[in-house]
Amino acid sequence: MESRRQFLSPLLLLLFQALLRTSARGGIAVYWGQNGNEGTLADTCATGRFAYINIAFLNKFGGGQTPELNLAGHCNPATNSCRVVSDGIRACQSRGIKVMLSIGGGIGNYSLSSRDDARAFSVYLWNNFLGGGGSASRPLGDAVLDGVDLDIELGSPLHYDDLVKYLKRLGKHGRKVYVTGAPQCPFPDRLMGAALNTSLFDYVWVQFYNNPPCQYTSGNPKNLENSWMRWTRSVKAGKIFLGLPAAPQAAGSGFIPADVLTSEILPVIRRSKKYGGVMLWSKYWDDQSGYSSAIVKSV
Ligand SMILES: *[C@@H]1O[C@H](CO)[C@@H](O)[C@H](O)[C@H]1NC(C)=O
Ligand SMILES: *[C@@H]1O[C@H](CO)[C@@H](O)[C@H](O)[C@H]1NC(C)=O
Repeated sequence: MESRRQFLSPLLLLLFQALLRTSARGGIAVYWGQNGNEGTLADTCATGRFAYINIAFLNKFGGGQTPELNLAGHCNPATNSCRVVSDGIRACQSRGIKVMLSIGGGIGNYSLSSRDDARAFSVYLWNNFLGGGGSASRPLGDAVLDGVDLDIELGSPLHYDDLVKYLKRLGKHGRKVYVTGAPQCPFPDRLMGAALNTSLFDYVWVQFYNNPPCQYTSGNPKNLENSWMRWTRSVKAGKIFLGLPAAPQAAGSGFIPADVLTSEILPVIRRSKKYGGVMLWSKYWDDQSGYSSAIVKSV
């Protein structure tokens, strides 16, 4: 018996380590929606390279405004032509890809004026994009999205913590609501810090770009690595992702050449148990550069 146990335990250990390695593999998240020349959502998911899609953006909400979607050249919400996106959402989900509606972005008019405003907006999102059936005019049609992504880049920092709590609460009454977010890398994030501190986020894709003190700068990975450590140690979230521009022109700064990412950066940042993969801005820029194809096997 004794010798058999000794034989088994190293074997079990090896098995366990193999399991850990498999579960530590990451996925690629991508933003889709801000350029009409990036293919459909169904095309995007059919590439097989992406595990998460953020539909960008719902960029008008709060303060009593009627929320508005903006999908650039893809479709026009005002004429209901974005409802066809439902086919793409379902095609993605049938491949196991999670699809979120991203609220916020760099251009728009949004802010939550009170806790009641946050609650009203959460109910609007639930009825118009998530599992609630309470709206006859769903802007993306009747497909049920997996969750909501917060890319809050302007306006007030207030009440996004309330919004996240309300969304999670609504998800308990029906289909789970994933909550994800894209803070910028200076820690803590000025606009999303309080929301992130609820510890309710499933995935956080930190934007490690447009901010030299916490991003990769040609030949120097230290700022990025220190910032990654800070985020993964401080933020309680399901998984944390390395958010990157998919091409040099996709951001003001912070682009990492694919070979540098796979050979130097990923081996270091993957050591964190919270590592979830890489987020790319955006599908359009990825089409121009071929970035996701070059990195997908190493993510
Ligand atoms: C922006 O939103 C506020 C309410 O939060 C509103 O008072 C203001 O008129 C809006 N501005 C524009 C340009 O739509
Ligand atoms: C959130 O928590 C971090 C510590 O992890 C802290 O540094 C930060 O100030 C908090 N932010 C807000 C807005 O509460």
